[in-house]
Amino acid sequence: MLKTLSAELKEFKRDSILTPLFMLGEVFMETLIPFLMAMIIDTGIKQNNLPYIFKTGAIMMIVALLSLMFGCLGAKYGARASMGFGRNLRKGMFRNIQNFSFANIDKYNTAGLVTRLTTDVTNVQNAYQMILRMCMRAPASMICSMIACFLISPRLASIYLIAVIVLGFALGIMTVLAMKYFQAAFKKYDALNESVEENVSAIRVVKAYVRGDYEKNRFHKASSNIYEMLVKAENIIVWNSPFMQFTVYSCIVLVSWFGAKMVVGGSLETGQLTSMLTYCMNILMSLMMLSFVFVMISMSVASANRIAEVLNEKSTLDNPSNPIHEVKDGSIKFDNVEFKYNLKAEEPVLNNINLDIKSGETIGIIGGTGSSKSSLVNLISRLYDVTSGTVSVGGRDVREYDLDSLRNQVSVVLQKNVLFSGSILDNLRWGNPNATDEECIEACKLACADEFIERFPRKYNTHIEQGGNNVSGGQKQRLCIARALLKKPKVLILDDSTSAVDTATDAKIRKALSESIPGTTKLIIAQRISSVENADRIIVLNDGKIDAFDTHENLIKNNEIYRDVYESQTKGNGDFDEGGAN
Ligand SMILES: Nc1ncnc2c1ncn2[C@@H]1O[C@H](COP(=O)(O)OP(=O)(O)OP(=O)(O)O)[C@@H](O)[C@H]1O
Ligand SMILES: [Mg+2]
Repeated sequence: MLKTLSAELKEFKRDSILTPLFMLGEVFMETLIPFLMAMIIDTGIKQNNLPYIFKTGAIMMIVALLSLMFGCLGAKYGARASMGFGRNLRKGMFRNIQNFSFANIDKYNTAGLVTRLTTDVTNVQNAYQMILRMCMRAPASMICSMIACFLISPRLASIYLIAVIVLGFALGIMTVLAMKYFQAAFKKYDALNESVEENVSAIRVVKAYVRGDYEKNRFHKASSNIYEMLVKAENIIVWNSPFMQFTVYSCIVLVSWFGAKMVVGGSLETGQLTSMLTYCMNILMSLMMLSFVFVMISMSVASANRIAEVLNEKSTLDNPSNPIHEVKDGSIKFDNVEFKYNLKAEEPVLNNINLDIKSGETIGIIGGTGSSKSSLVNLISRLYDVTSGTVSVGGRDVREYDLDSLRNQVSVVLQKNVLFSGSILDNLRWGNPNATDEECIEACKLACADEFIERFPRKYNTHIEQGGNNVSGGQKQRLCIARALLKKPKVLILDDSTSAVDTATDAKIRKALSESIPGTTKLIIAQRISSVENADRIIVLNDGKIDAFDTHENLIKNNEIYRDVYESQTKGNGDFDEGGAN
């Protein structure tokens, strides 16, 4: 984990080394100040030596200024290193998430990824800043002050040593106790983010189902859980301060008491006593800082692990070393394909699939809900890899192609499709960033999107809200088809992409596609027989297996499932599931 995270330090390595060095400089200067003070009192004032006092005072001032300068530089470099580290971690994770395959995405939930990119990075970033500034400073300050104390008076210094041991022990116990709660609280952030994420992105559904109160409770529970854990942890941590103060004041009383006796007895100078008291603060504050650093480190370990997990996640789809960039034609072949989403699952989602589709053919795919229609087509553009067997496009195994090239030439309109915030043209250019306005308009005409876009006051510059919330379901589908067309693909896959479009428009889109891109292989998944009956051939899927693959006419004659659905749909508008496919 440390190796993965430290690899993200990159350009901030120098700052990360300089920060503790500056902090050490600050400590060294700070330790000198009480020493100089003692010299002023014990030599300058005692001997009434004014030039000596001025000289030492001036040195003290320079030392103080240097200490200030080192402190400021340490803070500046520390902030830069830790914020930069945080930025690199976010960038690294985001970059890796972009390379995730669908299978990788299935593994993490969105809320978990959001927590990792936000709360977890902030935790690690804060802990890192603390480590850079305090991990050297606190022990160094404690050791330097302790050495100085022992040089002045070993007897008085032993009081501090005992105090350090007692306080260290107490702080250690408190830290361990509090840590348990801190770690539990951070684990609960996922639940909180999940609740927020789901609610905000699906607020309309929450309202439609009047689930507001339920969701409020869920959020309340998630945030209360965190609140309780943090309060419990803080209840322990608050004891730090009184305990610390008690020890400091006890030390001061004891050192003043014994020190005063020694001054009277002549074995200690007054100035030395004052510096001993200053060192007391230094030593015990450093100890407190150390305990604080310890809490922060332990709080961030869980976060660091979660970040490293994302950074180390390898995409389940690898690009071949000598990839093919050009898909020759739109022919598709499935050879004994078996597919499971989870390798441990007993039953495959697709079983024994053999298909031979010629380039330029229009293929309909029909089957009940969950019969694996989407799973089948997702293998063609290699959104998932087959478990066994091969899928070939243009005569070559899809695993031999460069992923981007393959996906640019096999265009899929996913069943769960989204638009992004931006203008209609921006959205269309996801299909092809270099498409001219004319090409975009042409694609929209084919997808029958042109007719409604022309009615918008700002036409193609109309702003689309996040997720495409300001266009209707059917309009969204048509824009998604247009977007896919702009790729000028060799294979076009429409996964239930006209389900929200009326039958007449649906027919118009199909006609336009067959006339204007005749060479493109088209795979059309649909629930309505009318959407596929004109296809060259139709695949009937049942429970992950091919039940039949033939023309509409032959299927009506020979395939029971198809005939049942056809009859129910032509008679009573029934859909596929009602037709008894399953
Ligand atoms: N990402 C996934 N992870 C695990 N299982 C999945 C995933 N997606 C689908 N499945 C499972 O695979 C099976 C086939 O799903 P698929 O989405 O291919 O069906 P479909 O025929 O497209 O259904 P629909 O008509 O509802 O779109 C289902 O049992 C489903 O639960
Ligand atoms: Mg589907």
